[in-house]
Amino acid sequence: MAPVVKIGSLPSYIEQTVMLEGWLYNKRSSGKIQFLQLRDGTGLVQCVAVKSEVGDEVFAECASLTQESSVRVEGVVRADERAPSGVELVVQRVEPVQIAQEYPITLKEHGVDFLMDHRHLWLRVPKQAALMRIRAHIQRAITEYLDGQGFTRVDPPILTPSSCEDTTELFQTTYFDEEAYLTQSGQMYMEAAAMSLGKVYSAGPCFRAEKSKTRRHLIEFWMVEPEMAYVEHEENLRVQESLVSHVVTHVLNHCEEELRTLNRDISALAKVPGTFPRMSYDEAIAWLQKKGFDIKWGDDFGAPHETELAGQFSQPVFIERYPTELKAFYMQPDPNRPEVVLCADMLAPEGYGEIIGGSQRIHDYDLMKQRFAQHKLPEDTYDWYLDLRRFGSVPHSGFGLGLERTVAWIAGIEHIREAIGFPRTLYRLYP
Ligand code: 4AD
Ligand code: MG
Repeated sequence: MAPVVKIGSLPSYIEQTVMLEGWLYNKRSSGKIQFLQLRDGTGLVQCVAVKSEVGDEVFAECASLTQESSVRVEGVVRADERAPSGVELVVQRVEPVQIAQEYPITLKEHGVDFLMDHRHLWLRVPKQAALMRIRAHIQRAITEYLDGQGFTRVDPPILTPSSCEDTTELFQTTYFDEEAYLTQSGQMYMEAAAMSLGKVYSAGPCFRAEKSKTRRHLIEFWMVEPEMAYVEHEENLRVQESLVSHVVTHVLNHCEEELRTLNRDISALAKVPGTFPRMSYDEAIAWLQKKGFDIKWGDDFGAPHETELAGQFSQPVFIERYPTELKAFYMQPDPNRPEVVLCADMLAPEGYGEIIGGSQRIHDYDLMKQRFAQHKLPEDTYDWYLDLRRFGSVPHSGFGLGLERTVAWIAGIEHIREAIGFPRTLYRLYP
């Protein structure tokens, strides 16, 4: 029996007989020869069946294979300079595993709704598989970087008694006799963990019932949330730019083929690693006004503003020190200008918008208590959070990186829904 090998490793089996286990991606025939394109999750290879060599029976078996049929193919690996993978397989024997019914996703164009209804099958398309691989590489690069910098991963709860960001976007559920919410952000728990472990991060799903149907919003998305004790605003930004630089470098080094499958402009990514430009919120407002936007100090940015601001740079840009009024209750005011907070949003280039939101946190007990009152937060559910300011409080900072937005940007895709295996979007819970 020939050894079972993966398509991706075929170049090291030239002139040897091997067995492939995969799915039929596409097929061409010229009467006497059939070209079977086989995929197995590691690559795509052309398998050539010549009637006069394999005999009528095997040739007929090849002909019976429909798109996406699962099949084992045995044959000899041949070097072929014209093939993208550098090899092809000369078929000797095929062993159909299951003959697929008529496959709904053909190689022609389909509408987005149709593809989303068939997401479980759409994932098999090379472009979608490439996206999943890039996503996995980005996750690996993030944990590799943070683990290497002395961060400890801590997993926050998903069911929570309170909100972290905006109460209007909470997913409510019940927890036996209590009200509960799906987490919007693990930040508050990471703050607690940072007081124990120094540098921590979480990486998991977050839920926001945002009624915004944009190409940047998901209802369920993944966030990476580092939190660091004894770290202030400036160092917080340094960690972010070096993390994002590491991630982009990793993808450039490990996902060459996937980026090619996606037609990603690699030269744009190559400009990213390094020190990122910065703009204050004040400068950003002035810039937008100069560009003719109808916006004034105190307004929040929308997608067109972010695109304009980030469009000046080939690297991500930090927009720093937003008005206190615009941002979450826990952000530390600038000591010289309490009307702004020590925060920054990182906007990705090429119109991808905010990929990171972060800040220094209020560590003073009295100020935090005052904010609770201003924001009408129920003290009973948040008392544990105040404890962090009662017992050995220190300046600390952190941020949240949106995984799907980061994937969409690095992979260069139009819409965030393709950056996750099974997207939950507005009005879509299937499949
Ligand atoms: O700016 P946000 O809301 O920040 C927080 O939640 C902080 N508590 C994080 C922290 O400091 N630990 O969200 C952070 C990032 C955004 O920059 C964006 O990339 C992503 O999370 N994000 C979303 N991604 C997809 N769909 C949504 N609905 C998102 N909402 C936020
Ligand atoms: Mg934000």
